[in-house]
Amino acid sequence: MRLSMGSVQFSGRVAAKSLQPGDRKAFVVAVAAQKGGVGKTTTTVTLGAALARYFDKQVLLVDLDAQSHVALSLRQQLNQGGDSLAELLEEPTTREVAEVAVGTSIPGLEATPACPELNRAENRLSTRIGKELVLRELLRISRTHYDVILLDCPPNLGNLTINALVAADAVLVPCNPSMLAVSGVEGVLGAVGEVRAALNPALEVLGLVLTRVDQRNGATNQLIEQLLVENWGELLSPVQIGADAALGKAQLAGQDVYSFEAGARSAGQYVELAEWIIARIAALANTDGAVEADRRHG
Ligand SMILES: Nc1ncnc2c1ncn2[C@@H]1O[C@H](COP(=O)(O)OP(=O)(O)OP(=O)(O)O)[C@@H](O)[C@H]1O
Ligand SMILES: [Mg+2]
Repeated sequence: MRLSMGSVQFSGRVAAKSLQPGDRKAFVVAVAAQKGGVGKTTTTVTLGAALARYFDKQVLLVDLDAQSHVALSLRQQLNQGGDSLAELLEEPTTREVAEVAVGTSIPGLEATPACPELNRAENRLSTRIGKELVLRELLRISRTHYDVILLDCPPNLGNLTINALVAADAVLVPCNPSMLAVSGVEGVLGAVGEVRAALNPALEVLGLVLTRVDQRNGATNQLIEQLLVENWGELLSPVQIGADAALGKAQLAGQDVYSFEAGARSAGQYVELAEWIIARIAALANTDGAVEADRRHG
């Protein structure tokens, strides 16, 4: 049976979706890395806040990690309410991701609430036919309500990360200056190749971004950067995020770094990264202007 606009099909069932289409055309970015603790969530949250605050974007953060670190990082700014993303992923539904998300005190920024049941959803997905396509379908109308959707992936290449890669227009890979993180880049780019070949031929690599770069480790940083340039030169972001305690302190306070300490070095670096990403999106997307590099304000 053919899918028509405004309908959703799971297990042969077709039902009308209640979410009406908007007039935006979000660029969907999976923030993914095979290795844990490389700055995926910090990048998702801070980049999302920068895009909303300084570039006037409507941004949705989708937390695909049961650790719920997006909601934890923004707990003082996240509105109450919302619903379980896991339930949407598990059950045939007429709802969309946008309908379970909540707003924040940052104009333009929304996020899915904490959802520890995502581990269960990950397991249940594995028995579903078409399991890689579920998130893409759940974002189909949601995409028309935002300019950018950032998918914060768990630190593995399991069902949820694969769902993110299938739903995304591009992947952003944070990497800290360590050999293990670099080898994780290879893993995630390998998965991108497989997803491209099988399920999402349009998937692009938005870029690799070095995070938590401690200037005191100059020699190691240089070696790692050289390795990244040799292997994926043109994809490496010219903007690096330095090691900055303000990011951890902001998370502890449950706020984005712009609320907590707007003058922090990393706050400015993430604004520069946002600017680079907008330009990359404009270069990649054959858009009618959903995201332009020159609408910066503030
Ligand atoms: N630029 C930075 N400077 C200092 N600390 C940072 C920086 N970026 C991230 N951190 C800290 O490193 C830790 C891991 O960061 P984060 O949670 O963003 O990584 P992650 O890749 O999402 O981890 P996980 O794989 O568990 O999801 C956090 O405590 C965070 O505060
Ligand atoms: Mg994380």
